[in-house]
Amino acid sequence: MSSDPNDRMRKRDLVRPMTTSTAAKRVFVKSYGCQMNVYDAERMTDVLDREGYKATDTFETADLIILNTCHIREKAADKVYSELGRLRELKKTRLEAGSDLKIVVAGCVAQAEGQDILRRAPAVDLVVGPQSYQNLPELLAKTTKKRTVDTEFPVDDKFKSLPSPSHDRAKARGVSAFVTIQEGCDKFCTFCVVPYTRGSEYSRPVVEVIDEVKRLADVGVREVTLLGQNVNAYHGLDDKGRSTSLGQLLSHVSEISGIERIRYTTSHPLEMDENLANAHRDIPEVMPYLHLPVQSGSDKILEAMNRRHKIHDYIDAITMMRNKRPDIAFSSDFIVGFPGETEEDFAATISLVEQVGFASAYTFKYSIRPGTPASEMDNQIPEEIKDRRLHALQALIAKQQRAYQDRMVGQTLDVLVERKGKHPGQMAGKSPHLLAVAFEAPAAYIGHIVKVRITDSVTNSLVGTLVN
Ligand code: 5AD
Ligand code: SF4
Repeated sequence: MSSDPNDRMRKRDLVRPMTTSTAAKRVFVKSYGCQMNVYDAERMTDVLDREGYKATDTFETADLIILNTCHIREKAADKVYSELGRLRELKKTRLEAGSDLKIVVAGCVAQAEGQDILRRAPAVDLVVGPQSYQNLPELLAKTTKKRTVDTEFPVDDKFKSLPSPSHDRAKARGVSAFVTIQEGCDKFCTFCVVPYTRGSEYSRPVVEVIDEVKRLADVGVREVTLLGQNVNAYHGLDDKGRSTSLGQLLSHVSEISGIERIRYTTSHPLEMDENLANAHRDIPEVMPYLHLPVQSGSDKILEAMNRRHKIHDYIDAITMMRNKRPDIAFSSDFIVGFPGETEEDFAATISLVEQVGFASAYTFKYSIRPGTPASEMDNQIPEEIKDRRLHALQALIAKQQRAYQDRMVGQTLDVLVERKGKHPGQMAGKSPHLLAVAFEAPAAYIGHIVKVRITDSVTNSLVGTLVN
């Protein structure tokens, strides 16, 4: 059975018993899209925790539903409206039963479409952009009088205004947690909405990041993934007001007691510097994995995308990383069918993939985003050509991914045990190269790094046995 909450939304479940004044209110934040939204969902829930809301994970059990939306591609944005259609029915049933249900649209669709959402979706009480989550309590209070929109880019630091999680909320993050260190983008790739929805590049000060990671480490987090739309453009200030690079920040984070693994995503090829490569060589906590989107293997397309680098720069970055850390695994993002992409351009993408060899990659058909320069380019590619190229690229990447995974069979890997696995007695964790590993072990091992000998490679994961 699907675990999608929509599928579980049955008529008989639609009426949550009326909450008495003493019963805790419940909030369900449903996130779409990137890891930054997953992190934002935690922070929104932290804000609401202070207002007496406890987290829940179904629509039926919630008094407050927040759709934390993604605007990156058309399909992602469309999902919001179909979800809102279903939620309208739920809200109506609740009102008929004399109880209330507040519906909030947050995230990048909220930022991009603002007031339009209130017009298109009558069930929505509040539209709130990613820079205003610290204002959620006041904004929700306003909705008792009128439907509200807040898509301002406040000048003050929203991260400072967001409360730290309570002990219980921090613990709920588990063993591996995200921490946003940089937000926004000034690169303006011609296909991308991020500079418009997340605003210009902002780096959190070093001390703020360190304090947050320390608090997470204190409650059992062992792995942090530092997040940013251009995470390697990080330049947060230290306590002496000096600009700090990502490489330097990784070194500071590695000194935090309890933190055993550090990852970061997403990087831009323009900002790959030697300092960051050295961090992979010198800091054992920095994991041998790099997500480095290239988007296309054709210089002509890269230029039309305003990526501001050429293929040889990308190859140089890959080579530099491999020289410092020979076992490093790479992943990337690719867009096929960008306006003007010829068969020759696409063949260049295929040959780049063959040359680099990826452990994993995300592939997308170009999707027109209103307001972006590429949406107005006149040489748009027909859907069937995009489909064909996508399938060809996906087949190649799947082959590389599987071959990469299969090479682990027979090796003994350090696995961070994250949670119980699918089968009784089974635990699940990740290898340094971000491969999922399942093996039998006691639950007490959660949060520990153990040695696992890999015996089998199956679809999207490895199977192994615990080594003493
Ligand atoms: N169409 C298709 N894919 C896109 N991405 C960003 N904008 C678009 C778009 N308009 C992809 C890029 C980016 C990833 C997060 O999403 O590959 O790296
Ligand atoms: Fe979008 Fe390009 Fe910025 Fe990445 S670098 S967020 S793809 S504009």
